[in-house]
Amino acid sequence: MDKFIIKGGCTLNGEVTISGSKNAALPILIATMLSSDDSIIGNIPNLDDVQNLKQLLMDFGIKILHFDKKNYFSHIINKEFCYSEPSNEVVKKFRASILMLGPLLAKIGKAKISLPGGCAIGKRPVNMHLDGLSMMGANIIIENDQIKAHVPNGRLSGARIKFRFPSVGATENIMMAACLADGTTILENAAQEPEIIELAQALNSMGSMIIGAGTRTIQIIGQKSLKGMRHIISPDRIEIGTFIAMATITGGNIFIKNVCLKTLQSIVINFQKIGCNFHVDQNGVRVNASKQIQNINIKTAPYPGFPTDMQAQIMSCLCVANGISYIQENVWENRFMHTLELTKMGADISTHGNLAIIKGKNKLTGSKVKASDLRASAGLIIAALSAEGTSEILHIHHLDRGYVTLENKLVQLGVDILRVNDSNIL
Ligand code: UD1
Repeated sequence: MDKFIIKGGCTLNGEVTISGSKNAALPILIATMLSSDDSIIGNIPNLDDVQNLKQLLMDFGIKILHFDKKNYFSHIINKEFCYSEPSNEVVKKFRASILMLGPLLAKIGKAKISLPGGCAIGKRPVNMHLDGLSMMGANIIIENDQIKAHVPNGRLSGARIKFRFPSVGATENIMMAACLADGTTILENAAQEPEIIELAQALNSMGSMIIGAGTRTIQIIGQKSLKGMRHIISPDRIEIGTFIAMATITGGNIFIKNVCLKTLQSIVINFQKIGCNFHVDQNGVRVNASKQIQNINIKTAPYPGFPTDMQAQIMSCLCVANGISYIQENVWENRFMHTLELTKMGADISTHGNLAIIKGKNKLTGSKVKASDLRASAGLIIAALSAEGTSEILHIHHLDRGYVTLENKLVQLGVDILRVNDSNIL
């Protein structure tokens, strides 16, 4: 297992390029299953989750050729698509694997897939995915950790589905399934995340008719068939947010190339409040954070609220803020695992259910800490950047699920960071 060794106390300076969005790329790659034509997708991030998904797609006879390594352009060849049961072992490695269920039921009327895995940040149920697909006519049972589903007459039917919570995954799964259903599907209380809009754009480029993506009500008019897609994945907004947090905690001055802040409003507003400045020009965004970090109260919420995927990163910044901050985690019930590790670095954090109280300290101290999930890893790296002395961050494989060569990008920004393979890490 790999670990990072980081020498703290640096100030980030320089330019950074953001990779394609993980949360956009995974559903969009899965959406190619809906067509028998080839698709071409650019800016696919080279991440562990993407590699695992490619392995699952190949089990279905789908070939993936990288014809432009620099821009991560891939040619997805669907001609030999055939029914398969995705490997349980690979499905368990990442949560987005559940997104294959809707497209499989829509395209071939049957699916057998293990319940998904992913970060251990909560119970992570999939009841809304299954209820929605059942309302569209699928028969679904769960047996021995396996979802077994089929559509009796071979084709799903449009339905009116109201989500209890605006689930990103359930919205994506049902939206993809509805593209090949008979009739019209209406999704109410749908997720509004930018990745939903991007998936809808990619599906519409395949000939789907999706109206309203990005609002709470999405209408999908089912089609008989779809063609291949042409799509370029957007930069990862959570990676942008992570670099903003890194600049903030180190009092840095960095330029994030080729991005805009349209989909980062809640992140930008809150980082401005704690002392970060943003200057936007046509080539990207300059982030300048020379001031003392101020305390703040934050509640995570579905988009356009403050993203749960940025909670660990801003918490690390607040550990060295001027005063007491409160963070309420409203999306996942078990997403404070990084707090214990941050206290090992000298942070003063107490948690009470879904509330974390962070008393700002003058400094953190380098320490040996263990990453528990993807964004917790990023949070610990951020803390280590400002800490006095050297930190070791164990279990970096969590980070590799969602950040492309983060250490190389940090080296370019002046950080003393080393990836070490340590076979003694448990
Ligand atoms: C969620 C986040 C997403 C983030 C991802 C990984 C939100 C709204 N979604 O997406 O931004 O990138 O985690 O951190 O912020 N739920 C159910 N039943 C279901 C599905 C979900 O009860 O069938 C509940 C979950 O337990 C959770 C909430 O809904 O409390 C959010 O789930 P959902 O949006 O589906 O999760 P992801 O799609 O993984």
